[in-house]
Amino acid sequence: MRKQRKRLTQGRRRPTRTFGLSRLRGRGTEQPSSSPAAHKLLERRYRAIIDDQVDLIRRFRPDGTLTFVNAAFCSFYQLREEEALGRNFAELLSHDEVEQISEAIFSLTPDNPTVTTAPRYVRHDGHTYWLEYVTHAIFNAQGDVIEYQSIGRDITAQKKAELEVEETRAAVNRAQRMATLAVIGGGIAHEISQPLSSIRILAGSGLYMLDKMNPVPLERIQKNLQDISSQVDRIDQIITHLREFLRTNQTSPAHPCDLNDCVESSLRMVQERIQAEEIHMTKELEAGLPAVYGVRIRFEELILNLLLNAVQELKGRKGAKIRLRTWADRGAHFEIRDNGPGLAPEIQNSIFEPFFTTHEDGNAMGLGLSIVKAVLSTCHGHIEARNASGGGAVFHVVFPESLDKSGKGGMWDPVPQNLGFSKK
Ligand SMILES: Nc1ncnc2c1ncn2[C@@H]1O[C@H](COP(=O)(O)OP(=O)(O)OP(=O)(O)O)[C@@H](O)[C@H]1O
Ligand SMILES: [Mg+2]
Repeated sequence: MRKQRKRLTQGRRRPTRTFGLSRLRGRGTEQPSSSPAAHKLLERRYRAIIDDQVDLIRRFRPDGTLTFVNAAFCSFYQLREEEALGRNFAELLSHDEVEQISEAIFSLTPDNPTVTTAPRYVRHDGHTYWLEYVTHAIFNAQGDVIEYQSIGRDITAQKKAELEVEETRAAVNRAQRMATLAVIGGGIAHEISQPLSSIRILAGSGLYMLDKMNPVPLERIQKNLQDISSQVDRIDQIITHLREFLRTNQTSPAHPCDLNDCVESSLRMVQERIQAEEIHMTKELEAGLPAVYGVRIRFEELILNLLLNAVQELKGRKGAKIRLRTWADRGAHFEIRDNGPGLAPEIQNSIFEPFFTTHEDGNAMGLGLSIVKAVLSTCHGHIEARNASGGGAVFHVVFPESLDKSGKGGMWDPVPQNLGFSKK
């Protein structure tokens, strides 16, 4: 061990951040003699200091072989020192992380000598732990790595807390989507009922032709069967759409989307409610809008939430109206205007906050507008809310033009979905 350390420090010109005798010597007040006894004493002191550390300390060769580990390291990995030394550091990594972490470490250079990694470690008892290692490469005068050393910290508690927040966030998101789904259920049932009644009529007339007509008009029956098949496809599309809507996949691929199509398809989902509430709906959808880049279902979710809010505020009002507008102006714009009660000044600054609601009927979660904001943050869009001059509320959404006209890349960031808990 001592031999190894000596070899590794040879040829080093500038002092580096090492945990070794050389560092201890530099700090000591008494100058050590070079006698073997003094050397042993120093080594014992060094060991004592290193073993008192709560941080995990390890050193390994360029081939990954561990040459030094402290007591905290052994205790974390539940290994004796002699069991750890001589192993490859990668043996203590999860299989799926070996490649990525090894690459991060082995690509260190004299200009970029430090890397932070956060490996996972599953102990024999099946419990998962997380660590954060700062690994520093030590180079010789020729710029070749002679050794790596790392300081690690157990970040399991922090990581678990983060995961819990993430899970809660996902659960709230799912719950909100389920609540929205319950509201749009009527609209979906309506959409499915149309192809279902077509199927019933087509099948009935096919049976009639088979039973009563002579000769049997095979071509007409064949045509009926083809129509039935395409109606089934239509139902399938509706159900697939619904499933996608409920999926909370954060990594859905982004595509250029037609904003007007998104408006139409969101509108179909609340059509039933609009009719039931006798709301007069007007649409001015400008043709040829620039494409909006992102996940179509999420844009529909955004529009749907704004629509549902307007419908909710107009409930029971005589002469209720909603006006939807889209237009192009350095990007695509969407505006929804209603003639409901509008936004009282004291709530205007709070409406986009998660869980803010003025509805106390138990169904509202106060998440609709947070979802709108979260969706907009994925495409760097923004929203403004104001009162209309003649009464009612206006929500104006701006989707910036995609940077990349080909529809690839562009201004899209798939991460949010965080309901605005951390990002505003
Ligand atoms: N068109 C509107 N007119 C007047 N007030 C509105 C309008 N849209 C939203 N608001 C106000 O903003 C609040 C927050 O809206 P948000 O959509 O986030 O939650 P919610 O509609 O109350 O509940 P949820 O969307 O979870 O069912 C509403 O409770 C309401 O007070
Ligand atoms: Mg809402």
